[in-house]
Amino acid sequence: MDEIVIRGGLRLAGEVEVGGAKNAALPILFASLLTADTCRIRNVPRVVDCVTTERLLEQLGVDVVPNQDGSVVLTAREITSLEAPYDLVKTMRASFLALGPLLARFGEARVATPGGCAIGSRPVNIHLAAFEQMGASIHHSHGYVEARAPRGADGRPRLRGAHITFEMPSVGATENVMMAASLAAGTTVIDNAAREPEIVDLAILLRAMGARIRGEGTSSIEIEGVDELGGCTHSVVPDRIEAGTFLMAAAAAGGDVTVQGARAEHLSAAIELMRRAGVVIDELPDAVRVRSDRRLRAVDVRTAPHPGFPTDLQAQMMALMCFAEGASCITETIFENRFMHVQELVRMGADIRIDGHTAVVHGGKPLEGAPVMATDLRASVCLVVAALGADNTTRLQRVYHLDRGYERLERKLAGIGADIERVSPRPAEAAAPRVEAATDPAARPVSLVPPAGTPRRTSNAS
Ligand code: UD1
Repeated sequence: MDEIVIRGGLRLAGEVEVGGAKNAALPILFASLLTADTCRIRNVPRVVDCVTTERLLEQLGVDVVPNQDGSVVLTAREITSLEAPYDLVKTMRASFLALGPLLARFGEARVATPGGCAIGSRPVNIHLAAFEQMGASIHHSHGYVEARAPRGADGRPRLRGAHITFEMPSVGATENVMMAASLAAGTTVIDNAAREPEIVDLAILLRAMGARIRGEGTSSIEIEGVDELGGCTHSVVPDRIEAGTFLMAAAAAGGDVTVQGARAEHLSAAIELMRRAGVVIDELPDAVRVRSDRRLRAVDVRTAPHPGFPTDLQAQMMALMCFAEGASCITETIFENRFMHVQELVRMGADIRIDGHTAVVHGGKPLEGAPVMATDLRASVCLVVAALGADNTTRLQRVYHLDRGYERLERKLAGIGADIERVSPRPAEAAAPRVEAATDPAARPVSLVPPAGTPRRTSNAS
């Protein structure tokens, strides 16, 4: 299994380009199910989660053509299956986003229920309650949700518009319902909707397909259903979490880095906290510049739905706080178990105690490189941020977590001066049984990198 090897302590400098947002691309790829026409989606990151989505769509009968230029062309003309199988849903919870579009366009769908995952239980009750309010009948059978739309006046199955109030602003439920409501009979209002930039990007796509939506980006979204949607061309919004990760990496390592494509308005909570911690940040047109001399002050962090501090940057911010003088209280309010990275940071010498949903970081002492293990996507990249600011060498294992959401991370970081490389095991090691791969429920389903074989370097930083 590949490892990422980082020799820390180097200043970062230069420009790094942020890619398309994985969390925007996933619902957008699923939205192609809403029409028989062709959707051309640009700026889709080549990360494992997007490839998994494309595989799932192909299993449903969608014609999917990924191109070298980062675009994906999808045509859902001849759908051959209305089922999202457990094998794919268990590896990527966002597969549940197949439910809304299939139910809305074909009147029925069968989608495996996602179980728990490394960061918490993550139920789908808000999605299902909303579809029931839109008239769907929902049955749970053998680990699957089976949903059917009610019959309309013409006898055809069709969801009905409804006034829905979410008990919490779930990002996935907002997306699922927005897609379904676009083809429902009548108007749907979602109150207490999620306000994330990825929701806004989905609304832009759906409008380009002919949907009537307003209010996206606020907590009340109104969708007037139409009879049919058509094809479109759309470019996925830049990834605010990848951008925020680069800002925190440069702040932890020290240096002067411009993150091209980063949209400061999508990162306002993170930028404000980083400034209070002593990092200099310039908001440029279509870029954000970060300068850090590593003289950092501890700040308290509390995750919250957008526009609050994103839970997807909590782990990276914790790594940054390990280098800041003083005590930082980091409170996670979105997920119940999102401190899996703490033990690995402690193995690098960090002083962190967990008290319920709060981690208290006593920063300012140097971190030391160590062999560490990724447990989930953002936890793994937090260890990269820590390793860049640490002394000596860190070897990060289970990098398939990283590959789910970061495209060419080691090459991008090497491009701004990091000493980082991906190494594959020697053939003898690759052939040996790997216990962790067999037992880890989150083992990735597909690979974007060549199978393990000859040792190779994928960065020029050695
Ligand atoms: C999305 C993001 C993920 C991010 C999260 C919160 C994608 C593919 N993933 O995940 O990276 O960390 O938003 O910003 O976009 N909940 C329920 N019932 C439900 C749905 C959610 O109780 O039916 C709870 C969840 O357990 C969690 C909270 O609501 O505690 C937020 O979850 P949600 O916003 O739905 O996150 P995802 O869409 O799964």
